[in-house]
Amino acid sequence: MKKVIFIMGVSGSGKSTIGKLLAQELNIPFFDGDDFHSKNNIKKMANGQPLNDEDRQDWLEALNDLAKKQLTKNSCIIVCSALKQTYRDILSFDIESKTKWVYLSGSFNQIYNRINKRPDHFMPSELLQSQFNILENPKKALQIDISLAPENIIKTIKNELVNTSEFGLFGLGVMGKSLCRNFANNGFNISMFNRHVDGIEENIAKDFKSKYSELSEASAFEDIAAFVKSLQQPRKIMLMVNAGKTIDYLIEDLLPHLSKNDILIDGGNSNYLKTKERFEYLKSKGIHFVGTGVSGGEEGALHGPSIMPSGDLEAYNNVKPFLETIAAKDQNNLPCCTYVGPEGSGHFVKMGHNGVEYVEMQLLAEVCSILETSGQNLDQIADVLETWKSTANSYLLEITIDILRKKEGNDWLVNKILDKAGNKGTGNWTTIASAELGVPSTLIASALFARYTSFFKDERIQLNSNFKSEVASELNLSSSEILEAYQFARIINHYQGFKLISEASNKFNWNINLSEIARIWTNGCIIRSSLMENLVEVFKGTTNILTNSQFIDLLNHYKPAVKKVVSQCVLNDIATPTLAEAIQFLNGITTPYASANIIQAQRDYFGAHTYQRLDDDSLNSHHTNWN
Ligand code: 6PG
Repeated sequence: MKKVIFIMGVSGSGKSTIGKLLAQELNIPFFDGDDFHSKNNIKKMANGQPLNDEDRQDWLEALNDLAKKQLTKNSCIIVCSALKQTYRDILSFDIESKTKWVYLSGSFNQIYNRINKRPDHFMPSELLQSQFNILENPKKALQIDISLAPENIIKTIKNELVNTSEFGLFGLGVMGKSLCRNFANNGFNISMFNRHVDGIEENIAKDFKSKYSELSEASAFEDIAAFVKSLQQPRKIMLMVNAGKTIDYLIEDLLPHLSKNDILIDGGNSNYLKTKERFEYLKSKGIHFVGTGVSGGEEGALHGPSIMPSGDLEAYNNVKPFLETIAAKDQNNLPCCTYVGPEGSGHFVKMGHNGVEYVEMQLLAEVCSILETSGQNLDQIADVLETWKSTANSYLLEITIDILRKKEGNDWLVNKILDKAGNKGTGNWTTIASAELGVPSTLIASALFARYTSFFKDERIQLNSNFKSEVASELNLSSSEILEAYQFARIINHYQGFKLISEASNKFNWNINLSEIARIWTNGCIIRSSLMENLVEVFKGTTNILTNSQFIDLLNHYKPAVKKVVSQCVLNDIATPTLAEAIQFLNGITTPYASANIIQAQRDYFGAHTYQRLDDDSLNSHHTNWN
């Protein structure tokens, strides 16, 4: 990847000398920032007038333009004092992922004596002191003491910035490999690691590297020490391994080789509570931990996933240029990657994503089941779903159409797949988190338990003979009625998914921006859809989409259809648990006086658990001796 290396420091720190030597060594162009001042600035400086920030703004923007122009052709070296972080931000604007900083640092006396040893070069001490007064130490620079000999400074820069990788991928499973290729395709110098297990996993990284031309510059490792050593500091290592204890074991394996301020990014589907623990544990070791949801499957990881990082903001800002570059882009070409919040909020949001994903998948399965029962074959069902794209398009709708059309010989492949749904646990965690937070994510639970019901295949076959399906009447449902029922349930699904995230954000003080979450889910992730596009704007006005007039109108418009579809499915013994739960949930959440008073009375009757009264605003607890 082409890079611009900015060499910064106060006057007299040797920027130009080192810059020219490095440019010669790397055979790339050198530019002295001072050659790009405007005539006005040159005049002011010649008169001994200090430049103000306005004078500097134009100059720094000119250097940023120079860097951008150079990057279209080659890497380059630019020297510039860049004493304040705001100056550095202007210089690296829009090219953060292609920018490296070298800070030549020294004490006032070191530099003052050095300057005044030079013939015909005098700098008043107060001018040098004024530079030290505004100098802000850079957080992301390679800092080198100017007492080193120039050739050793050059050697250090080459070792640290040029001959080493800037990002490490740890774990070359399906997602890990796709991410490596994505980083490499975006021009990053990466190191790749996969463990060595005799006879099971050997030379994985090496063989993977040789398979793809975009990895020709990547470094491959199966030794952890060499892998870590190959990375520029502060090191950025993305763990792409299965969630669970494995992460903790790997952290222990890595810790002895890491340096203070290195960053570990967990890109797996880890549990948000574990992420919080790991964040705190590593913080005590001086290591940053960024729990990051990554969504989009193998294709998404390769071409641009949706990325949900969280943890400390400083660490995120260090990895932001990398993650935002490889992320999918939304319709405004902004990265589908945003800092979600502190602790494990990123993994919580990813877990919420998977909850919504389970429901979307279950709803499509139920729709297919209804259409098949109405006598249509899979190609005809695919044709029906094709017509839904104009109003209900989504990634999952698109892949379901492909799935329905996939043949093996003359047969539909999907009809040969065993109807037992597996899961890796994310929907399970979402349901548990909902229960722990007291949030009625009833569709997510319904979709999860529908998978569990499917798992009891033998029992389903056995019990089928005991309970014959009774077809009450021919299914009399139009495609548009089924579509409206499907859309109704999807809106309830998204309401529940975002409510869960909102409730968690309130409880844990994560301050999650729901509109931003919807935005990063408009591309790259599994639940991307036109509905999600709508939610980006809606969440700018509310955290509860059931209060949004557009969605109120849609739900009221779709309600007759979902009631008809669900009732006909019940009458025809077609199992549609999640579609049915959608209308049941809306009825429940919109009933002002519910039957829970009976529950309260029962609890008080047998357990004296007391109850509150509608006619007692004090909310006092009451008990009755019922018998
Ligand atoms: C994604 C997916 C992915 C998920 C697999 C398996 O966002 O890319 O959600 O993270 O782990 O699809 O999920 P289940 O095995 O739980 O269905």
